[in-house]
Amino acid sequence: MAPPGDVRDWIALLEREGELVRVSAEVDPHLEITEIVDRVVKAGGPALLFENPKSQHPLLINQFGTERRMCLAFGADSLDDVGRRLGDVLEMQPPQGLAEKVRGLKKLKSIADSQPKSVRNGPVQEIVLTGDEVDLGTLPVQTCWPGDAAPFITLPAVITKDPRTGARNVGMYRLQVLDERTTAMHWQIHKDGRADYLLADGKLEVAVALGLDPITAYSASAPLPKHVDEFMLAGFLRGEPVELVPAKTVDLEVPANAEIVLEGYIARDELTEEGPFGDHTGYYTPPEPFPVFHVTAMTMRRDAIYPSIVVGKPPQEDAWLGKATERIFLPAIRMSVPEIVDYDLPVAGAFHNCCIVSIRKAFPGHAQKVMHAIWGLGMLSLTKSVVVVDEWVNVHDYEEVFFRVGANVDPKRDVLISEGPLDHLDHAPTLQFYGGKLGIDATHKGPEEGTRPWPPEIEMTDEVRRLVDERWAEYGLGMAADGDGRREGALRQLLRR
Ligand SMILES: Cc1cc2nc3c(=O)[nH]c(=O)nc-3n(C[C@H](O)[C@H](O)[C@H](O)COP(=O)(O)O)c2cc1C
Repeated sequence: MAPPGDVRDWIALLEREGELVRVSAEVDPHLEITEIVDRVVKAGGPALLFENPKSQHPLLINQFGTERRMCLAFGADSLDDVGRRLGDVLEMQPPQGLAEKVRGLKKLKSIADSQPKSVRNGPVQEIVLTGDEVDLGTLPVQTCWPGDAAPFITLPAVITKDPRTGARNVGMYRLQVLDERTTAMHWQIHKDGRADYLLADGKLEVAVALGLDPITAYSASAPLPKHVDEFMLAGFLRGEPVELVPAKTVDLEVPANAEIVLEGYIARDELTEEGPFGDHTGYYTPPEPFPVFHVTAMTMRRDAIYPSIVVGKPPQEDAWLGKATERIFLPAIRMSVPEIVDYDLPVAGAFHNCCIVSIRKAFPGHAQKVMHAIWGLGMLSLTKSVVVVDEWVNVHDYEEVFFRVGANVDPKRDVLISEGPLDHLDHAPTLQFYGGKLGIDATHKGPEEGTRPWPPEIEMTDEVRRLVDERWAEYGLGMAADGDGRREGALRQLLRR
């Protein structure tokens, strides 16, 4: 099945799948929508199309709010399957034999098809407003939380070019609305959009696409290396190139099927106070200087649909954008650190606060090696705490991880305190951007690590398990024979007390 080509296809798909509710009641983008969405997200509820927010445009939200919708967006049964598609290409070897050659060619074609395609016209330019005609106040931009400084555009794809190389960057960076034609640009210190800005001599041209097909929207949030075009990732994951049209007033290309595009520029040394903003850390980020974005044109489709997302105390809708990144990037991480079996960034840890990683441990200090590797790997380098477990531990089962940490850790020997760069938004460290790192080695230890002999883990024999399976009915216990599930369920209940 072809992936949704634009937001409208996506809404139609969500509706067919019973995953979207239209809300016709008039609602206020000032706080009211957040309160509704917060309840719906936390209940695992549907995507919402507010048809009558107090504004000229409908508002789409919670499109990514569940695993099922995220899989629908990617046209995949699981997010791991999406990761495997990327992994297959990353791990390509010279093909042996005809069948492998044909498979190899298909993979090469999928790479070739991922290149964005330039087209002359696109629906996003059905309406073109320039200069004084531009009024951001016509969009239903949400003020999400009571302490927010202003309305914030929260689900944008911000497009810039590296002034030296011309390489495109697309990133999801929020925009605080300052007036009809200006916003702040929240380029955090570690991000590629900010790097383009710092390289600019005078002005940097910027385009902001709003209302994209779900894969392209996701790709703006993906932590790709600076020289890799996020639209290429989108094309690869879609299996079809992203179509781009030349913007009207800046030398950039923008997605032809977007709902709305803001075009403009950022002057190198013009800063404004951005924030406070109720952030994905669950706290307000305090005011801080960020660049000012001047909007020179606003183009849109007729009846344009405005997309939004609420971040705040986890879990929120962005949890599934983060989980998609966790799963999709696992093969890429394994390319650099092959001993990693799996990893999990708990949503409640706001992703950068904690990483649980399982490894194929082969030598003393291996867990510490992996901690340092994570602290040196792309955006994962901002991870505050790393917990390392053995390959047979399920990193997504937090109770099992807790058990291993409790059972296997000698705090004096197995806890590593280090330091390094931290997330821009982390309010806990004494200094902004820099502070402590915690590594916990919860793997088993061998004699070569100077420990006493490690005791064997308790396991029932297969023979007795089989016997009990066979005789289960005889015992008359009135419950299913899948003892495993039941036993774990009871353990979970106990552990939760
Ligand atoms: C909903 C949402 C909002 C985000 N807002 C910001 C933001 O305001 N500033 C920022 O620097 N990163 C923000 N991010 C994270 C970036 O989009 C992410 O780090 C992305 O990889 C940045 O692209 P880059 O690697 O090309 O810089 C946000 C992510 C999501 C999912």
